[in-house]
Amino acid sequence: MLRFETAGESHGECLVATLTGLPAGVPIHLDRVNRELWRRQQGYGRGGRQKIEKDCARIVSGVRHGRTIGSPIAVLLENRDWKNWTEALPVDEGDDRKRKPLKRPRPGHADLAGAIKFSFEEARYILERASARETAARVAAGALCKEFLREFGIEILSHVVGVGGCRLERRASWDQIEALSRRGEVLLGCVDADTEARMKAEVDIAYRTGDTIGGIFEVVAHNLPVGLGSHATWDSRLDGRLAQAIVSIQAVKGVEIGSAEESATSFGSKVQDTIHYSKEHRQFTRGANKAGGLEGGISNGQDILVRGYLKPISTLRKPLESVDLETRDPASAAYERSDVCVVPAAGVVGEAMVAFVIAQAVIEKFGGDSLRESLRNFQGYQQQVKDF
Ligand SMILES: Cc1cc2nc3c(=O)[nH]c(=O)nc-3n(C[C@H](O)[C@H](O)[C@H](O)COP(=O)(O)O)c2cc1C
Repeated sequence: MLRFETAGESHGECLVATLTGLPAGVPIHLDRVNRELWRRQQGYGRGGRQKIEKDCARIVSGVRHGRTIGSPIAVLLENRDWKNWTEALPVDEGDDRKRKPLKRPRPGHADLAGAIKFSFEEARYILERASARETAARVAAGALCKEFLREFGIEILSHVVGVGGCRLERRASWDQIEALSRRGEVLLGCVDADTEARMKAEVDIAYRTGDTIGGIFEVVAHNLPVGLGSHATWDSRLDGRLAQAIVSIQAVKGVEIGSAEESATSFGSKVQDTIHYSKEHRQFTRGANKAGGLEGGISNGQDILVRGYLKPISTLRKPLESVDLETRDPASAAYERSDVCVVPAAGVVGEAMVAFVIAQAVIEKFGGDSLRESLRNFQGYQQQVKDF
C-alpha cells in the first residue's frame, strides 16, 4: 500500500514528506521534482512568502544512484523564513517573551476551533500547522508519484478554469494544458489568453480593495489504463478517493468530477458518454467525456477530469470581525502576510494529490516490489485488455 505523510510547521525549520511503498528501481529526476515545487510557488496574486521561500527538495532516504530502492523516501524542504522564527518557535522551552501569539483568531481558518480543541490559550501552533505552506511537502511527494507514473505513460497536469466570476467557457485540450505547464511564467494558469487577462483583472480588484478571491482548477490525468479503482466496495471507488484527496487541500470546498455541475441540471440522455466500437482498430471509443474518465468508480480509459473549487483566501488585509481570546472583547482578526489568489498553485497541489491516489491505485492493481515487476504485470494486463 502506497502511503504518504507530511510533517512540519509553516515557520519551523523545515517541511518533511515521507512516501512509503514505491517499488524499487523508479528513476527519480530531482530537477523535475524541483520544477513542481517551483510551479506551486507561482501565480498572479501570491503574497510575500513566495519571495522568501525558494523551495528545493533534499531527498535524504529511499533513493540511491538516482533510483528508488524500495524503502521509505524522506524529502526535506528547508523553510528559509525559519531564521526569523528561531526564537519565537524553539523546540526547547525558549524565552516566553519571544513568542508571537495569535490572539485574534481569523474567521475561515482553523485558529479558533483548533485552539479550543487542543486547549491552547492562543492559536499560534494551530496556524503553524494548518497553513498551506504544508502543501509544498505534498507537492514533493506527488512529484515522486509522478516519476513512478511516467513509467506507465501516465501524466497529470492542471489548469485554471475560473477565478472569481470569470470562467473559461470551453474545454481545454491535453496539448493546450501541456503547453501551459512548460511556460516560464505562470500568470493565472489558463489556456486562453483573453480569459486569463479577465482573470487577472478580477485579482486586481481584490488587490485594490484589500480583499481576496477564489476560483476553480481542473486536474487532468492523461493516458490511464481502463480498470483502476473498483465498483465493488465504497472505499475502493476511485472517484471517492480522488474527491477526498482534492477536498483535503486547504481552502478547497468543493469537488467536481467530469461535467457534474452541468449534468445535474440536464436530462440523462444528454450527459452519458455513448459507447462505440472501431472494428478497424479493435477498440472501444466514447462519444464524449462528461463522466470525467470514471464510471462506477473505475477508470474507463478516458482522461480523468477532477475540479477543485476554492473559497477566497481567509486572511484579509481589511480584517474581519473577531474576538480577542484574552479579553473576549471584539477585535479585528489578526493579519499575517498572505496571498490574494492561489488558484493556479492549488491546481499544482491538486496534481500532487491526484498523482498520489492514482499511483496508489496502480500499485494496488499491478503490485510489484520492483518497477520491472510492476511494468511486466502492467504490460500483461494491457495485452489482456487488447484481447478483450
Ligand atoms: C496554495 C495555497 C496557499 C494558501 N495561502 C493562504 C494565505 O496566504 N493566506 C490564507 O489565509 N490562506 C491561505 N490558504 C488557505 C488556507 O490555508 C485555508 O483556508 C485554511 O487553512 C483553512 O482551511 P479550509 O479553508 O480548508 O477550511 C492557501 C491555500 C492554498 C491551497
